[in-house]
Amino acid sequence: MARVALDHLSVRFGQVAAVDDISIAFEQGEFIVLLGPSGCGKTTTLRCIAGLEQPTSGKIFFDQDEVSHLPPRARQVAMVFQFVSLYPHLRVRDNIAFPLRARGEGRAEIERKIAWMSKIFDLGDILHRRPGTLPPGARQKAALARAVVREPRVLLLDEPLSAIDEQFREEMRWELRHLQKELGMTTVHVTHDQREAMSLADRVVLMRAGRIVQAGTPRELFDDPVDEFAAHFIGSPSVNLIDASFSEDGVALGEAGVPIRLPERHLEALRRSGLRRGRIGIRPHSLRPAGRDDHAAVPVERPIAYAVGRERFLDFELSGQTWRGVLPADAGDSLPERMQLDPARIFYFTPEGVRLPVA
Ligand SMILES: Nc1ncnc2c1ncn2[C@@H]1O[C@H](COP(=O)(O)OP(=O)(O)OP(=O)(O)O)[C@@H](O)[C@H]1O
Ligand SMILES: [Mg+2]
Repeated sequence: MARVALDHLSVRFGQVAAVDDISIAFEQGEFIVLLGPSGCGKTTTLRCIAGLEQPTSGKIFFDQDEVSHLPPRARQVAMVFQFVSLYPHLRVRDNIAFPLRARGEGRAEIERKIAWMSKIFDLGDILHRRPGTLPPGARQKAALARAVVREPRVLLLDEPLSAIDEQFREEMRWELRHLQKELGMTTVHVTHDQREAMSLADRVVLMRAGRIVQAGTPRELFDDPVDEFAAHFIGSPSVNLIDASFSEDGVALGEAGVPIRLPERHLEALRRSGLRRGRIGIRPHSLRPAGRDDHAAVPVERPIAYAVGRERFLDFELSGQTWRGVLPADAGDSLPERMQLDPARIFYFTPEGVRLPVA
């Protein structure tokens, strides 16, 4: 298993900078998720690592070895895509054996590895079936087994779960996570589904327009987004955002200028920044019914409560915008008149969406 380093990697297609000067290292055994909206360069980055795409500039290293210009075969990577490319006429076991036979491994060795994969992926009955007769989830497992059995230096996964039903996808995520830890494979997994990223990754690399916006643990991205884009892209339900004006006296929210009382050190930081207008962000889980002594509170208008699983949410209007907060499970039927923003968890953004630190 290799450590993978990208050094000022760029890929241009004519005018489009698909990957724009990316530098980052993935540690040996790390589960990395490249996350970002459609067209941000995830697949292109993955294809560069695989050797299927040539960088316009920059370098790629596997451990000490520069592989930037090695052909895919020489890199010992395995890649699994959204749509499985198993050989339809071969049984699953022969699909798994195929790459091993191709490099001349002995019969006994191949049998041993098929048994190993069968155990890890719980393939059992499906070993003797042909891919076309299998449901998508089972087919994807077979594809993963075929990728992993070669013991690649790096495992590359491009939305491998997106063609699978939601219900089964959850289960596949867990399996993938366990498998990756068990085998200790350096894995780079691409998705535009932030929930998938948050549940799988050791580290999430959030991309936008060919660049890295932020890289960190799921917790770091959730708690400490670098900008409004990151705050908005991560987390469900999504962060509440509202225009705000900052003055000597405090902060007013939305067009209606709903005043909100904030900790003095926040006001101090806002004053120091000289910012007059911007936006604030607060995650639904940091917005709860206000107690008598809570000051960073906003009034609740037109409340609608609803449940998702065991959680209860409250939607309400704030200066013409719908906000979402959380109700305690034992709150009863009466709805709060005010909701409190957890002051430690308020994000402040400039009009350009840059996060303003207040700590
Ligand atoms: N072979 C190509 N020729 C021209 N432009 C390309 C090519 N491959 C990708 N692009 C462009 O490069 C940019 C990044 O594409 P890429 O496929 O890497 O994005 P992505 O993050 O994987 O998106 P998605 O989530 O839709 O799969 C896009 O603007 C895309 O149109
Ligand atoms: Mg893609």
